[in-house]
Amino acid sequence: MAILVCGGAGYIGSHTVHALLERGEKVVIVDNLQTGHLEAVNPAAIFYMGDIRSDATLEKIFTENQIEAVIHFAANSLVGESVQNPLKYFNNNVGGMQVLLEAMVKFGVDKIVFSSTAATYGEPEKIPISETDATNPTNPYGESKLIMEKIMRWVSRANDIRFVSLRYFNAAGALESGEIGEDHTPETHLIPLILQVPLGKRDHITIFGDDYPTPDGTCLRDYVHVMDLAEAHILALNYLRNGGSSEIFNLGSGRGFSVKEIINAAEKVTGRKIKTEIGTRRVGDPAQLIASADKATKILSWTPKFSSVEKIIADAWNWHKNHPAGYKS
Ligand code: UFG
Repeated sequence: MAILVCGGAGYIGSHTVHALLERGEKVVIVDNLQTGHLEAVNPAAIFYMGDIRSDATLEKIFTENQIEAVIHFAANSLVGESVQNPLKYFNNNVGGMQVLLEAMVKFGVDKIVFSSTAATYGEPEKIPISETDATNPTNPYGESKLIMEKIMRWVSRANDIRFVSLRYFNAAGALESGEIGEDHTPETHLIPLILQVPLGKRDHITIFGDDYPTPDGTCLRDYVHVMDLAEAHILALNYLRNGGSSEIFNLGSGRGFSVKEIINAAEKVTGRKIKTEIGTRRVGDPAQLIASADKATKILSWTPKFSSVEKIIADAWNWHKNHPAGYKS
């Protein structure tokens, strides 16, 4: 039996595939390579280039392989783009989930682990954020992921399907060996953008606002190492295998770091001075996003092992230094 990883050529998907293969799992990947990279596809996995919105593609995959469970990463994930083009997000993210679940029901595949996000909460009502807190997304990306969770909830009540939804906070870092890492176009995430300065690809990093109600005035985020996220998917898969019921879990380190603290840590790791400029606030950025991951610790026995800021930045730096143009270098 194999695990079908939808979006296994993307950032978090490729790292999870690596972890699954290390555990001896058989892996089948489907990815349309719209944002994923062929170079990130692990050669030890069976790969289908295709779109999960195509029922014919899924029919072929489910017919040709014995799929035990699905881990679903295939989605668009840029907050800004989702505000400009909401229909792209509802078509690809929500539409993809619908077709995928239809195929799972048809072929009797009863377990799905889903890549969700802190963006489902919107402006937090309290810190740290718990899974029971209100969900009021402030952008179509977060809304699409919340709708996808709700679709799974309804389908799990009507059909023999159980799901685990993992709401990541700020995913960062790379595989320690530097074989795979983060490569987004456009890149919008803080750590890869900071590292473009010591790489000589960018003159400075703009800090989006230093007048927030936080200790140094810059936003606090909860950074979690991509390999800790990968491990959580494996724990979630085994939880479902052991008969666990459908659940939602936050994944974060439980600690908040400011934009300035991340820049200071990047200077230490790279040994280079990083020039900064203070810019205006980015629309929609909450002052703080910090997870309570107590539920994942209690129920999945998940504890982040690599999520110190130094380790996250050191692994990201190792990847970017050796792949300054991402997978194209
Ligand atoms: N930032 C800067 N300058 C930059 C880029 C980012 O100051 O050039 C700041 C942002 O304002 C924010 C922090 O760095 O305070 C982190 O920004 P990222 O874009 O790296 O990440 P976000 O916190 O915006 O995004 C995360 C997840 C998304 C999720 C979102 C929910 O990566 O998937 O939280 O708000 F949608």
